[in-house]
Amino acid sequence: MQMPIYMDNHATTPLDPRVLDAMMPFFKDQFGNAASRNHAFGWQAEEAVETARKQVASIIGANAKEIVFTSGATESNNLALKGVAEMYGERGNHIITAATEHKCVLDSTKKLEKHGYRITYLPVMADGLVDLDMLRESMTDKTILVSLMYANNEIGVIQPVREIGKLCKERGVLFHTDATQAVGKIPVNVISDNVDLLSISAHKMYGPKGVGALYVRRKSPRVQLTAQMDGGGHERGMRSGTLNVPGIVGLGSACHFAAAEMAEEAKRLRYLRDKLKDRLLSELDETYVNGSMEHRLPNNLNISFAYVEGESLLMGVTDIAVSSGSACTSATLEPSYVLKALGAGDDLAHSSIRYGIGRFNTEQEVDYVAEKTIAVVKKLRELSPLYEMVKEGIDLTKVQWTAH
Ligand SMILES: Cc1ncc(COP(=O)(O)O)c(C=O)c1O
Repeated sequence: MQMPIYMDNHATTPLDPRVLDAMMPFFKDQFGNAASRNHAFGWQAEEAVETARKQVASIIGANAKEIVFTSGATESNNLALKGVAEMYGERGNHIITAATEHKCVLDSTKKLEKHGYRITYLPVMADGLVDLDMLRESMTDKTILVSLMYANNEIGVIQPVREIGKLCKERGVLFHTDATQAVGKIPVNVISDNVDLLSISAHKMYGPKGVGALYVRRKSPRVQLTAQMDGGGHERGMRSGTLNVPGIVGLGSACHFAAAEMAEEAKRLRYLRDKLKDRLLSELDETYVNGSMEHRLPNNLNISFAYVEGESLLMGVTDIAVSSGSACTSATLEPSYVLKALGAGDDLAHSSIRYGIGRFNTEQEVDYVAEKTIAVVKKLRELSPLYEMVKEGIDLTKVQWTAH
C-alpha cells in the first residue's frame, strides 16, 4: 500500500495514465492552435478538439455541436446562470436554485441578486433531496431558469433530475444542472432528463484540471446565452479564448474511458463504499450517514461521528486523505452549509468526514481506512467528557450548564 491513501475523489481525481498518454502529443509536436485554419498544425488541433467534442457529447447523449468547452465547472456554471439571466432578462427575472448547491452556483446567483434578479433558494429535506412540490409552487410566470445540481459534492445525493426536467419543460422554464460529480459516475442523458444546460469538469473524472464543458441545447428549445468572455468568438460565440487543446483532448479521453467502464466501475465502488460504511456503522455507535443512501453516488460516503471533532479526526488520520465537513473560511472553521441544510446541528456538521472512493483505490486501502478511522474515533471518544456522560445515560439536552 502506498501512503498516504488518497480517498478525496470528490475534490479531485488523479489523472488516468491513459488520459495523460492521449494528451501528451498535444503538449509536444501537435501544438497548433485549433483556430488556425490555413495550415496542418491548426487542422490537427481542430480535428483532436472535434473528436473530444464527440466524446463529451456522447457520454451525456448530446450532439457534438451542443458542447462548449470552458476552463471547468466553475466557469460552466457562471456561463449558464449569468448567460441565461442576461439573455432572457426581458422575459423574467426569477431563478430557482437550492441551498445545497456548489459555491460557484450560489455566488453566481448572489451576484445576480445584486443586479435585480430574484432568487429562490429551495431548502432540502433531511435526506438532501429537493421537494418537487415546493419546486412546482416556487415557479412563477417570471421564472426563467431552474438550476439544481445532479449530484452533490459533499453528500453524493442525486436529485430527481428527470422529474425536475419534466416539470421545467411543462412550464417552459430552462433547466440547468451542475453535473460535475455525476458525469462519468452514473448514466446521464440530456434528452431523457430534459436538461437544457449541463456543466462538466474533467478533473472529477480522471482528466486534467482547468478544463470542462457546458452543454447548451440546440433544439426544442434552442437555448441562447450571452457570452461572459468577449473576444475572438470561439465556441460559436459563447466562449472566446484560444482552446486548451491538450486539456480538451484529456476531457474527451476521460469521458471515453468513463463511458466504457462506468457500469463495472460503479459496481466495484459501490461494493467498497458499502463495505466501509458497514464496518464504520457496526463498530462505532453514535455514527450517522448524512444524506439518502438510496439516491446517492456509488463512490460517496459522508458520515458524522458524534462526540468527535472533525478536524481532530482528520489530524488523527494524516495517512488518509479525506475531507471534513468543515471548510476553513478565513480564520474561522465553519460547519458545512450542506449538512446544516439537511438539518444537522453544528456539532454533527463539525464531526463529519467525506470519503470519496475512486478508480485507483483498492479493497486493502478501504480496509485500512476503516480500521484507522475506527481506532481514532475510539481514542478521541475516550478523551471526550460528553461521550462519557452519554454512555452513563445522561441526557445532554437536559443538562444545566453553568459558566463560572
Ligand atoms: C458540484 C461541483 N460543481 C462545481 C465544481 C467546480 O468545478 P471546477 O473545479 O472544474 O471549477 C465542483 C468542484 O469542486 C463541484 O464539485
